[in-house]
Amino acid sequence: MKKAVRYFSRLGNTKTIAEAIADGAGVQAVSISDEKELEEHVDLLYLGGAPYANIMAPELKAYAEKLDPKQVGSVRLFTTSNWSRRTVLALKKLLGEKGIPVEEDYFYAHMLHIKGRVEAARAFGRKA
Ligand SMILES: Cc1cc2nc3c(=O)[nH]c(=O)nc-3n(C[C@H](O)[C@H](O)[C@H](O)COP(=O)(O)O)c2cc1C
Repeated sequence: MKKAVRYFSRLGNTKTIAEAIADGAGVQAVSISDEKELEEHVDLLYLGGAPYANIMAPELKAYAEKLDPKQVGSVRLFTTSNWSRRTVLALKKLLGEKGIPVEEDYFYAHMLHIKGRVEAARAFGRKA
């Protein structure tokens, strides 16, 4: 199964988790600030980000909107904020409407306990 990890991170929390997931998955984590559109076909895309000022980062929304269901088998979400449920729900809705299945369970690391979640993030990346 081909996996990929893409994330948006302003302060570094999501980046730390993305890199741990990628380590577990055996791939490189790529920031969507460096890659505006997914450029390969993947079976499973790990996609992560956080809300800022009550809404998901516009960069993450724009990236998700550009994902093509022909390119992505399914998506696993991860996030690092206190109140990220809205962001997760919004991403599930946006991707679901495009015909991209999103796994029900997502990975959550509280922004104040990132280091303590690194090992679990690695395991999330290893998950079949
Ligand atoms: C300017 C700013 C606004 C934020 N607004 C929210 C918010 O509305 N809701 C929330 O749950 N977290 C909010 N946060 C917390 C971030 O989502 C959280 O710190 C997250 O881990 C940041 O991820 P990053 O380090 O990958 O950028 C905010 C953080 C900043 C810096």
